[in-house]
Amino acid sequence: MSRSPNQQSVHLSVDGKDIELPVRRSTQGQRVIEIENLRKAGIFTYDPGFIATASCDSSITFVDGEQGILTYRGYPIEQLASHSSHLETCYLLFHGELPSATQLDEFTGSIRHHTLVHEHLVNFFRGFHADAHPMAMLCSAVGALSAFYHKTTDITDAEDRELSAMRLIAKIPTLAAMSYKHSIGQPYVYPDNSKDYASNFLYMMFSTPCESYHLDPAVAHAMDVLLLLHADHEQNASTSTVRLAASSGANPFACVSAGIASLWGPAHGGANEAALRMLMEIGDDKHIGKFIARAKDPDDPFRLMGFGHRIYKNHDPRARVMQQLCAQVLEAQGSSNSPLLRTARTLERIALEDDYFIKRKLYPNVDFYSGIILQALGVPTDMFTVIFAIGRTAGWVAHLNEMLGTDYRIGRPRQLYTGFTERDFVPLERREG
Ligand code: ACO
Repeated sequence: MSRSPNQQSVHLSVDGKDIELPVRRSTQGQRVIEIENLRKAGIFTYDPGFIATASCDSSITFVDGEQGILTYRGYPIEQLASHSSHLETCYLLFHGELPSATQLDEFTGSIRHHTLVHEHLVNFFRGFHADAHPMAMLCSAVGALSAFYHKTTDITDAEDRELSAMRLIAKIPTLAAMSYKHSIGQPYVYPDNSKDYASNFLYMMFSTPCESYHLDPAVAHAMDVLLLLHADHEQNASTSTVRLAASSGANPFACVSAGIASLWGPAHGGANEAALRMLMEIGDDKHIGKFIARAKDPDDPFRLMGFGHRIYKNHDPRARVMQQLCAQVLEAQGSSNSPLLRTARTLERIALEDDYFIKRKLYPNVDFYSGIILQALGVPTDMFTVIFAIGRTAGWVAHLNEMLGTDYRIGRPRQLYTGFTERDFVPLERREG
């Protein structure tokens, strides 16, 4: 491969033919080589896991994994976590700019207006077995929303798209809380629209009709920051799933349901649950060495959960905010000496000094401390990924809107075929074995 003098394109020689591949510059971060001309020359690229492949143009979120930088629409995540709210950040992700006071009021009002779900969804929930995992219920309930709004899911219509986005952001906390209530056999709690987004969710999750419910504002604030930190992360597995599903023209509720399914896996959103379980299993600092040794053993599939990231080869900036938030929450609750936090900090320190982790650039990710915060807020472990899904809905709808508002094609990766070459069908009576 050779590079043109002005570096606007690279040239590849395939079977003696010269193929010119344009190079495109991003506003920040790596350049990309456009490879469409390869197809015309009858050759594809091979990149399992999309390690070196950009799948789209996007102006929503920027991640520099080497430097440990994350920005939403140009604003550093640390600034947003300190000064913004989850709903304001949703507006920013969706519309591209921070809202004026009036715009934020209208946006918040619109979200409030849509918090209720159709009463028939209660019947849908009643069909689940009592021990159904809340992620299983959330995934199906979000998909089921498309049955209630079939007439307003024309993805080519900008108004329909916006309406579906508002409905998704507004209703997902309601459905998430219903999943939880169902799993513990308590009555569903209707939203109270006088409350802010995070408080309303916590109210639907933890209040019961038989007692008055008091919510500590520090708890509501911690939940709001947690949602904001999870709001978007460019083309991760679940967002790419949402985009791929939408590229066929599927409706937004079905696409977000697909995103929730992808998020569920322990290598993605399920890692916060796994990280907390791991910390509890470690139990005492004296067992940390054993877990580190297992994580380093190539014959043991065990990994340090909440450690490592496909993109971050430096500190995940969300993990740093999360660590501070964790300390604040525990201090506010009078448990700054929490054994779990102590174990997490010791584990982090030991891992970051270990050659295995240094060489592979493995740092704590967003999930390492979030489990401790959620546990301190009284959230049971099987709701952790559900809460991640509430936050990430903002990113999913922003990416859907971005993609559907531009020219796009159906997503259709190719493959390196490794099966049989063509052969003749063998009738049953002539087959051996
Ligand atoms: N513990 C121990 N070793 C690890 C870990 C870990 N957590 N993560 C990666 N490694 C090792 C791998 O074994 C591999 O070692 P090798 O080169 O000797 O084979 C090397 O580091 C590279 O790992 P890959 O799996 O190739 O990295 P990839 O980018 O594909 O995976 C992933 C990233 C899935 C996040 C991985 O680091 C992991 O499984 N972490 C634990 C799960 C987790 O915390 N997931 C949450 C991610 S954040 C999010 O989704 C919100």
